Amino acid sequence: MKIGIFDSGLGGLIIAKAIRNAMSEYDYVYLGDTKRVPYGNRSHEAVYEFTREAVDYLFRKENCAIVIIACNTSSARALRRIQQEYLVQYNHARKIMGESERKILGVLIPAAEEAAKYGKVGILGTLGTITSNTFPDEIKKINKKTQVFQNSAPMLVPLIEEGEKVLAVQFIKKYLKPFLNKKLDTLVLGCTHYPFYKNEIKKVLGKKVRVISQDEIIPKKLKEYFIKHHEVEKKLSQKGKTKILVTDITPNIKKLSQKWFRKNTKIEIVEL
Ligand code: DGL
Repeated sequence: MKIGIFDSGLGGLIIAKAIRNAMSEYDYVYLGDTKRVPYGNRSHEAVYEFTREAVDYLFRKENCAIVIIACNTSSARALRRIQQEYLVQYNHARKIMGESERKILGVLIPAAEEAAKYGKVGILGTLGTITSNTFPDEIKKINKKTQVFQNSAPMLVPLIEEGEKVLAVQFIKKYLKPFLNKKLDTLVLGCTHYPFYKNEIKKVLGKKVRVISQDEIIPKKLKEYFIKHHEVEKKLSQKGKTKILVTDITPNIKKLSQKWFRKNTKIEIVEL
């Protein structure tokens, strides 16, 4: 069985690449909903529906034992409901058939756990993630003393999907400005896409602010998860293969998947 990695677009490829580099023995299937990206400015209901459809596809059509929701907007606005409603029903049906449970993990809580170690934390995310207040809520559950400041950066995702860097710097400065007088010690890149601009963001913030980037923490957390949940790990096939699925092929996803994965990595269009 495979590990499924889902994102609204191509940003999750950064997480997929980091996970695959850390655990290259497993088989992966990446699903990017490039036809409907961005999710960041959509309603709760739409994000829930889209995410549920994607996870369901990865379970039913791709036989994934576990799905990592690499999208922060989905992790913030849909994950809990998906786990409590969809997954409970799905696993119940499997149990009746004598089949094993499937699992779904998000990327927001691991980043919140890391952020809760520090005192003054900024969160940069999509409008959907920021207005859900999920990051501050999760951080405060772990450490009440951490002060959390948030700002949304709605223009960054379209610029990344377009592969645009020069123009992005102006927006990065604009979105980071509200944090600059807060004496932050830490900034969380609370969107799967933002690690594309990690260097540009670090440059604006200066050396004193540490940047939490999910591509640097999720692989380690997943390894720990597999150690704790051997019943999931032992179901995973180990041929070292990666497959990329998208709901629409854009020039940039072609470029990135060939740059980061094998040159002949196939990209397939699917309908959710
Ligand atoms: N993947 C989304 C996230 O991490 C960003 C792109 C979008 O808005 O869909 O929040």
